[in-house]
Amino acid sequence: MDKISTAGNWASEAKEHLLASGTSLESFAQAGFQGDIIEEAHGLILRAVDGKEYIAGASGAVNVNWGYSRRDLAEAAMEQMLKMSNGGLTPGAPSTAIIEYASKLAQFTPEGLGRFLFMHSGGEANDASYKIARFYWWNKGEKGKYKIISRDLAYHGLSIGSMYATRMMGAVPPSGEFGPPIPGYCRTSAVYCYRCPFDKTYPGCGMECAEALAETIQQEGPETVAAFVAEPIYGVAGTIIPPEEYWPRIREICNQYNILLILDEVMTGFGRTGKNFACEHWDLKPDMLIMSKGMTGAALPLSAVAITEEVFEGMRGEQRFSHFASTGGHPVCCAVATKVLEIIEKEKLVENSAKVGRHLAERLNKLTKSPHIDNVQCLGLFAGLEIAKDKPSKTPYAPESEEIKKFNAAVHDRGLIVRASPKGRLQIAPPLIATIEDIDRIVDILELALKDSNLD
Ligand SMILES: Cc1ncc(COP(=O)(O)O)c(C=O)c1O
Repeated sequence: MDKISTAGNWASEAKEHLLASGTSLESFAQAGFQGDIIEEAHGLILRAVDGKEYIAGASGAVNVNWGYSRRDLAEAAMEQMLKMSNGGLTPGAPSTAIIEYASKLAQFTPEGLGRFLFMHSGGEANDASYKIARFYWWNKGEKGKYKIISRDLAYHGLSIGSMYATRMMGAVPPSGEFGPPIPGYCRTSAVYCYRCPFDKTYPGCGMECAEALAETIQQEGPETVAAFVAEPIYGVAGTIIPPEEYWPRIREICNQYNILLILDEVMTGFGRTGKNFACEHWDLKPDMLIMSKGMTGAALPLSAVAITEEVFEGMRGEQRFSHFASTGGHPVCCAVATKVLEIIEKEKLVENSAKVGRHLAERLNKLTKSPHIDNVQCLGLFAGLEIAKDKPSKTPYAPESEEIKKFNAAVHDRGLIVRASPKGRLQIAPPLIATIEDIDRIVDILELALKDSNLD
């Protein structure tokens, strides 16, 4: 077979053999992948096939929490591969690697969330949590409680189940291209003070966004609702942090109407916000917690749903709980995830996220002297900001505007990768091993790119 060696060949082979996602397939068929093809990455630095280097300002898909290509994780994987490379004795039976990981993970998760079901991806774990919620109520004799409520702007994945809970603007939820929508999913309002869906100003708004959940439950009928699922801090929408009172009120509403609270911490978990899990900022106690990205730092695919003992008790009964994936909780992934817990503790990476995150917040807040940079939000190494055409009216630039194209090109040319979210938010979320110097390098490039595109 011919060896693929030049940048041009990589691009043409990709065009011929891959099915691209998140883009129009007509433009893909014509032009192939737009953007760099990465060959190698170490720590925070990625190298493309043409030799150009980038610093990871958004940790891949905000998942490379512990840096790229770590030897300690590679060695943990190798050791487990050579010890036992596959699952337990029979389908669903655990290996020692999964049991060891689960018991260590229980010391890392918030108190009371110490029982786990392992899957591979965030979307899959969301699907599993909705099934758990439905099974729980069914088993308790409340067979009509099956609806899952999620919020506008939410991202919970793109598997067939999680896609209908995802409510980003644009392509999801889908508009018919994947057949009729699956019944049992309902929407409620976003919490987004900068662009309040009720045109109110915080404080003094009566937290209408939280009260909207109570209204949605009443409209649907509490006897039909199984769970409310939400990210504690919006991630894919561009790091949007709710006001202090929001989560305590949501917990009250879920209790009042007897529905389960599922927190999706796929992006915010594992130190991203300066605590092990973001719910700890509010001392918020969910009934289920979903995690994935930081578990292995994307070195291998792994996700989990953590449930409380109360949820487990509600599920106990004669009915078989049918949820299983042949390689869910794969021993090699669990061995790597166990090593991650060791590294987090040894290198104090949650503390690092909090400390270096304060520096990131300070540097980003200084950018607001620009007439175009607004609404900086940052917790740990998890930051988002708006690039506004006009700050007073909060008018965003269109993503295809000349200014944004120029800015994106400048960021790229200067060797930085950050995430552009819908509605003009920019997300900065470097690996949690980042130093103050790394943050300075990232924000220095942002400053220069703003200057290059006359947005400073
Ligand atoms: C909060 C949240 N949930 C679920 C997902 C989906 O995870 P995956 O891409 O692993 O399916 C993501 C991905 O960004 C996410 O941020």
